[in-house]
This record gives sequence, C-alpha cells and structure tokens, in this order.
Amino acid sequence: MIKKFSFGKVFRTESVPVSLEAQSGPMPFVAVDEQEMSFTYRMDPQVVVYGLGENVRGINKRGWIYESKCSDEPRHLEDRRSLYAAHNFLVVDGKETFGLFIDYPGILTFDVGYTDINVLKITASDWNLDVYVIDGDSPRDVIRQFRRLIGRSYIAPLWAFGNGQSRWGYINAEDVREVVRRHREGGIPLDMVYLDIDYMERFKDFTVNTERYPDFAGFVKEMKEQHIRIIPIIDAAVKEEKGYPVYDEGIEKGYFCTDESGKPFVGAVWPGRSLFTDMLNKEARDWFGNQYKFLLDQGIEGFWNDMNEPSIFYAEDRLADVLEEIAEMRNGDGNLDLDAFSHFTNLVGSLSANADDYKKFYHCVDGERIRHDKVHNLYGYNMTRAAGEAFERLVPDKRILMFSRASCVGMHRYGGIWQGDNKSYWAHLLMNLKMTASLNMCGFIYTGADLGGFGSDTTEDLVMRWYALGVFLPLMRNHSEMGTRLQEVYRFTDIEGFKNIIGLRYRLLPYIYSEYMKAVLRDDLMFRPLAFDHPDDARCKTIEDQLYLGDELMIAPVYEQNAKGRYVYLPERMKMLRYSRDGVFSEKILEKGDHYVEVELSDVVFFLREGHAIPLASGGQCVDEVDFDKLTILTFGDDAVYEYYHDDGVSRNYEDPANWRALSACKE
Ligand code: NOJ
Repeated sequence: MIKKFSFGKVFRTESVPVSLEAQSGPMPFVAVDEQEMSFTYRMDPQVVVYGLGENVRGINKRGWIYESKCSDEPRHLEDRRSLYAAHNFLVVDGKETFGLFIDYPGILTFDVGYTDINVLKITASDWNLDVYVIDGDSPRDVIRQFRRLIGRSYIAPLWAFGNGQSRWGYINAEDVREVVRRHREGGIPLDMVYLDIDYMERFKDFTVNTERYPDFAGFVKEMKEQHIRIIPIIDAAVKEEKGYPVYDEGIEKGYFCTDESGKPFVGAVWPGRSLFTDMLNKEARDWFGNQYKFLLDQGIEGFWNDMNEPSIFYAEDRLADVLEEIAEMRNGDGNLDLDAFSHFTNLVGSLSANADDYKKFYHCVDGERIRHDKVHNLYGYNMTRAAGEAFERLVPDKRILMFSRASCVGMHRYGGIWQGDNKSYWAHLLMNLKMTASLNMCGFIYTGADLGGFGSDTTEDLVMRWYALGVFLPLMRNHSEMGTRLQEVYRFTDIEGFKNIIGLRYRLLPYIYSEYMKAVLRDDLMFRPLAFDHPDDARCKTIEDQLYLGDELMIAPVYEQNAKGRYVYLPERMKMLRYSRDGVFSEKILEKGDHYVEVELSDVVFFLREGHAIPLASGGQCVDEVDFDKLTILTFGDDAVYEYYHDDGVSRNYEDPANWRALSACKE
C-alpha cells in the first residue's frame, strides 16, 4: 500500500512516471516538522535500515549520515556522505516495516542514527517535495511496490553481459586492437572494449579524433567482425569552441544553462571552458539525445555517460578571482607562512565542485527559470534520459547499452550505472558487493564496479578475487585510471587462472541473464541480503558479505588479501559448488551453520540452495558463441526445476510467453 504526501510547491522530477493523488491527514510512521523541514522516526535497537543505493558503508545504513548530492567523489571512504547519485529510497525493517521515497531534486540529508543512534531523521533543503510511504509485509514486498511505482528498470542487450575491458589510456585504434588480440590469442573471453575520453578530438563530445581513428566506422566494423563492441564515453559538458557544430547549434538555439544575466554559464571540464546542456529543458534534451546519432551511424551500439553530476573543475569567474588573489600574494614578499600557505591551498582547492558555483546557473523548464542547485540531482538522470529517449526514437527495435555515472531514481528506466571511481583496495571489493544489493533496491539492476579498482596500483590477487565476484554481476568491466599499473588480465602471471574465472562467466550466462531479466520484469531484486529470506534468523541480519543471487544461489566472495578462504554462514543446507582451474565443478553438501571454506585464488566457490537448479552453457569466447539452448543443469534435489528466461537479446520483445521455459535435470 502506497500513500503519497505533498508539501509546498513540488517540482515535477518525473522520477515516478504515474500520478498518485496526494493524501491529506497525518503521515503514517514518521513525525513531520515543517519548521525544521524534516521527517523523523524513532528506531528500536533491532531496526535495520536498507536502501539509499549508491553510498559508502554497509547494507544496513544505520550509524552514518548520508547526503543526496550528486558529487564527483573519487574518495569512496567511510567518511563520505555522498557519491555520484541521489537514491532517496529507504526501507525501515523492525517491528514495523515500511519504505520512504522522498521525491525531491535538491540536497537531502539522511541522518540514520548518526546524531542519535535511535533516530532516523531526513531533512530537506527546502519544503517542496513529495513523500511516498510504502507499507508492506517485508522489505522485499516494500521494495517490489516501490519498484512498480517508479517503473521498469532499463534492459541491456544480451551481449552487454559479456566481459568488458577498459582503461583511461587506450589512445588509438592500435591500442584497442592490441587489447583484443591479446585476449583472443590468450583464449580470454571478451565482448567489449571501452573508449575513454582520448578517442575524441580534444575532448569534444560527438567527435572522433581522425588521426587516432582514421576510419572509425571501418574500425568499429572490423571489431564487430571479431565479436567486439566498441563502447565510447560521452561527457556532460560541451566544449566552448566556435566552429564546433554542437557548440554553435547549442548557442544558436539557446540550449545551454545560463548564468544570472542570461549568458551561457561557463565552467571547465576536460576540454577547459565548457557549457552545460540544459538537460531539464525537453527541447534541449531531445537535441542532445539526437547527437548520439553521429556515433550510432558509425556502428556504435553502446555508451557510458560520464561527469554528469555535473562535475565542474572550475567556474570561469571564480578562477579569475583566485588567480588575482594568488597574484597579489606573490606581490607581497612572496613568503607563504603556515596561514598564508593554507589560504593558498584552500583557494586552489575551492575551485572544483564549489557549492556556490551550482547556484550560479539556471535551467529553463516550461518557460520558468530554475536555479541549478534546487534541481541538482536531476542532471545526470536527464542526460541519460536524453540518450535513452533518443535511442527509442532513432533505433526503436534495438537495445543500446547505456550506463551512467551520476543518477537518481527515475534514471533507472534509461540506463544502468557503474559504481564510479573506486580504488584498488580490498575494501572496495567488498563495497562493490554491498552497494550492488542497495542499488538493486533502488531500481538499478544493470550495475557493476571497475574490476581490479580504478584508482591506485592494483595487484594480481586483488584483480583475481575481484573477477571471482565480477562473474556474477551484470556489468562486468575491468577499468583503470591513466597512470596506474596496467591491469588487463594478460599483464599478470596466472593467465590460465583468469581465463578459467572469466570462462565461468560465459558458462553462467544463461543463468545470469535469466535472473537479471526476472528482476527487471518482476520489479524484483537480482541480489538481496540473506535476511530477506530468513527474517527469523538473527545471524542473517548482520551478514553483509554474502548475498543471494536469484532464488537459487548464494555468493560469498573472498575479499581479504592473503586469505586462503573464508568463513561462510549457511542459513540452510546448501550444495557448495567449486569451479576450479581445470574447468570442472566439484560439489559438497554443507549443513546449515558456519563453515570455513578454502578458496584457491583461481577458484570460484558459490552455493546452490536445496530444491533448486541452475542452467549452465558450455561457454564461449564471446556472447555470440554461447549456446543458450544446449544447457546442462546443476541441481540440488532430484525434482528441482529452473524457470528459464531467454529472448533474442536485442529486440524489446520481452513480453513473449515463449521466452519462458521450465528446465529440469531429467529433461536434459
Ligand atoms: C571519470 C570516470 O569516472 C572514469 O571512469 C574515467 O576514466 C575518467 N572520468 C576519464 O574519462
């Protein structure tokens, strides 16, 4: 049961595509304080709070304070309050179970027991918002209702479930060819290579550097013939440059955000001085979306949208002030004592993502000027929506891969997200697992993190353990930052080990895709905490390093350096499956309880629930090679039946009943 409450003059975020009538009368569960602009709930000690999507810390969000403020934040540390997204949905699970979705485009604070461990307090920065209160029998029930409310999640093409290789540093066609060659020669399955900003001409969106890619369309075709899709990045900001058609046309039509005086607002990102398309203005959004055609026409079938919080390295006028002040400092005796030096570093540090700069530009929505900070969290959503809506117009019969960095609820209908600039830290492997569960709750099913870690130098064992988790996640991509240690799997010593792990992904594909589609089509979770299935098992409430995948599997990755295995808690009897480097499965039945499980670096261990079965393909070097009809079945229980979903993987024909089949071991 969902009830909507409206306060003030609400901006239509279109996060919720249906219109519910707002209730009058008191709001259930929470106390409302209009003066303070807050909602408060007293939490019993046993209350667990789920949700909030992309954020640091645990699956249980209790004990920290989070801020919905889409930020370019590469430090994914415990003290961070915001990352790239604003996922304003949480579920309170205690004696009462309910969900809250705050449909609000500005900055919002979720104090989940930070100020007082027993108090949940949500505070808005102004009092114009819709709140949806969802009453349900269980967290899963609440989440399903919420997901129905916000509309079906984005569906990626089947090939996008293959293995992807990326690096900020592949400069030209030769670099990409080498990546492909080394995968193919080494027998390491691969489906996608991602292009970071260097493929563009001086970081200009919707251009290709013709020195680096003399015949881009030909190159894309050549790659496709090897079953490789090329996935270019698109940045939010548009370079200021006369003669660059995207800039010229955007200026002429008035499609960029403007400053107070009505002139285009200038901030800097990769190309230096740049402008920001007014993604909230429908006409400008359609125009930006149409630009993707330039690449679609050259055979491109997927994109990743970046820097769309939007990230601003510096605003033009602030840079001028800072440079002037620094020049004055130089004109003194040039001696920077402690105070002067810290003033200097603060000045320079204040340039990037300055909160005041987000108050200096405006959108135009239905003729009304709206200051950016009031609607900040909608920017990345609407950039990706621009693309998603354009794909529906331009290629209605084909699915296009799309995932974004910034997001809020609503964007989940147009694309997936990757989990941003993590680092090559063991802690970030575990965070990848936890965040995936929280993201599923908020509608983001096509998701994954940069395997091996984006920032910092990685190590072979970390990359390998991370892949052992990555094989289960919809978006499986190794990506790293320029200047860090190279981390394509063929750079390491145990290539056979990597081959084996990545090979498992291609054997599991019928299952992974089927579970992904079930989660999307049924507004359900692909990954969920154990407690959702065992509400009466107190141990499960605190387990955050194991997850259920669908109704069949439990995953429990190893995430500590030098560990030879790990403790696993089984809330019920399960069959442990071990996929070892020789490419065979071994199995062992384990009783409910605690077990220490040894896991070699190149092994992947996971658990099959009793009474269940999963399909397995024989593998392949790319998704096109995988035979989704010739399957073997792994079962735990003789009569176990698997509900199998499969479709053509490219069209939008999801509703065909022929996509569903029952599979059982005896029928194979
Ligand atoms: C930031 C993105 O998060 C990262 O993945 C990308 O490599 C860099 N921008 C450069 O485009």
